[in-house]
Amino acid sequence: MRKGTAWMLAGWAIAAAMGFAVPTLYAVPGAHAAAAEKGAAEKGPADKQPVKGVPQMAKFRQVSEVVRDKCMACHSRDYDLPFYAKVPGIKQMIEKDFRDGLRAMDLNVELVDAAKDKPVGEATIAKMEWVVLNETMPPAKFTAVHWGSRLNAEDRKAILEWGAGTRAAHYAAGAAPSRANEPLQPLPASLPTDARKVALGERLFNDKRLSSDNTLACSGCHAEDKAGTDNRRFAEGIRKQFGDINAPTTFNAVFNTRQFWNGRAADLQEQAGGPPLNPIEMGSRDWNEIIAKLAEDPNLTAEYSALYPGGWSAAGITDAIAEYEKTLITPNSRFDKWLKGDDKALTQAELDGYQRFKAYRCSSCHVGKAVGGQSFEYTDLKADYFKDRGNPLGSDAGLKDFTKKPEDMHRFKVANLRNIELTAPYMHDGTVTTLDDAVRIMGAYLSGMPIPEGDRALIVSFLRTLTGEYKGKPLTGVAVAK
Ligand code: HEC
Ligand code: HEC
Ligand code: HEC
Repeated sequence: MRKGTAWMLAGWAIAAAMGFAVPTLYAVPGAHAAAAEKGAAEKGPADKQPVKGVPQMAKFRQVSEVVRDKCMACHSRDYDLPFYAKVPGIKQMIEKDFRDGLRAMDLNVELVDAAKDKPVGEATIAKMEWVVLNETMPPAKFTAVHWGSRLNAEDRKAILEWGAGTRAAHYAAGAAPSRANEPLQPLPASLPTDARKVALGERLFNDKRLSSDNTLACSGCHAEDKAGTDNRRFAEGIRKQFGDINAPTTFNAVFNTRQFWNGRAADLQEQAGGPPLNPIEMGSRDWNEIIAKLAEDPNLTAEYSALYPGGWSAAGITDAIAEYEKTLITPNSRFDKWLKGDDKALTQAELDGYQRFKAYRCSSCHVGKAVGGQSFEYTDLKADYFKDRGNPLGSDAGLKDFTKKPEDMHRFKVANLRNIELTAPYMHDGTVTTLDDAVRIMGAYLSGMPIPEGDRALIVSFLRTLTGEYKGKPLTGVAVAK
């Protein structure tokens, strides 16, 4: 175990032993904390090597030292519990803080492991910014007894500058300079694509022959006039079969780090291989069954063969569909216009709503161009959503279904909030029918801050500014969400 970590845990154990709930505690801890620091000093200075594997960007060395010394102990799975952690009472408290800290953010994964081959994620940057700006970390009950652990002004500045620098270097998407450091970024007008593959992919996306009884195309559940969804609680597959999970929108799905609520597909191509053979969705026996039908269509086969000379294959079909899905993006929402510098694009109420969206920590998870899709979070992070909702569903397992790791239970890909007023009902379980209720639930279970009605109304008015354009026209659909 690192010395810095031992030092922090010592202060923590003392704090636990004294019991935080008692207000008089603040009179007492000095002596204990001083003793703990003395003990730590005797063990020698903490080693000052940067955290292994972290990219050496400007500011990063400084930030990695701060994070290692003041954050890692509670936000990293890579620790050994000290001997006193076995003392009843202390054990429970330490375990709870490790558990809650890790569930909020695993810095070992986010800053060290994930950062090996890509920049630190947008959600991690946004989460760090929020706790730094609001001065909530390390938790007060911990800093109260362990003064050295508080973030000082220099630490805070370093973290914020590192966040802004990382965002500018890797995630900037054309916002006006004064808005370039917003956690949300504008959608691009388009992505580079192969026009012929897009045309073929669009045909296949709308082709019912991908289903075993020729009744259902991808677009049957991801309709253009329903903002890429079906506006149903659960999707209806062939022969009136229903699954137990809500269909997310295909619009802007290209910006998701992984596909599906539980992330089981790495990208759009892998995703497109799923529904055709899913027995309760399109129900085809295998790709040969689908290919035999498509191959009877000479026009389609000619179009396909010109692009994929090897002949019909699942790989070619899903490649073309994925290429088409890259064009399902909805730029030019009023919020994007504001991000790009048009001050008149939003009303004062909508701007206030955006400010609340940030203040209530929504933008710690709903980040980037698609306003989500970047990280996997616990739907029961701050309170037991599943117990309160009742009626357990198989789909509630979330990421655990894919990774098989018990700690991934109830973790879901953060929904993308673009065009959200058109994509009801909400949540993986499709139980939420109004935006007001979605915002209320997010406050209670994900942000851990109850949101009064007035603020909810402001946030909803902001969310409605996220509706964009498709093929140059405002995206249409039934604004089912109140
Ligand atoms: C003593 C253990 C401890 C330390 C040290 C600590 N955290 Fe936390 N952190 C927690 C816990 C516990 C939570 C869950 C929220 C809560 O209970 O307040 C949390 C939550 C968070 C969150 C999510 C926001 C939230 O409120 O859920 C972020 C981001 C975070 N911590 C960042 C940091 C950073 C950055 C540092 C270092 C400056 C740090 N933490 C140091 C225990 C700790
Ligand atoms: C029967 C309705 C149905 C059909 C048909 C269907 N889907 Fe879906 N789609 C869903 C549901 C439900 C989910 C969510 C499943 C999950 O996450 O486990 C989903 C998820 C997706 C996602 C992931 C989006 C995200 O945010 O993670 C994409 C992309 C997608 N479908 C594209 C397609 C394509 C391409 C086809 C045709 C090959 C297709 N779908 C056919 C219902 C359907
Ligand atoms: C800790 C991360 C986190 C925070 C904080 C958070 N969300 Fe979410 N949000 C999620 C996840 C994860 C889901 C999907 C949950 C599920 O379906 O089980 C989601 C779903 C949603 C949905 C439903 C989207 C859909 O298509 O089904 C809306 C709307 C939403 N969030 C808005 C907000 C707002 C507004 C806030 C702030 C008050 C907020 N979120 C705070 C992670 C977060």
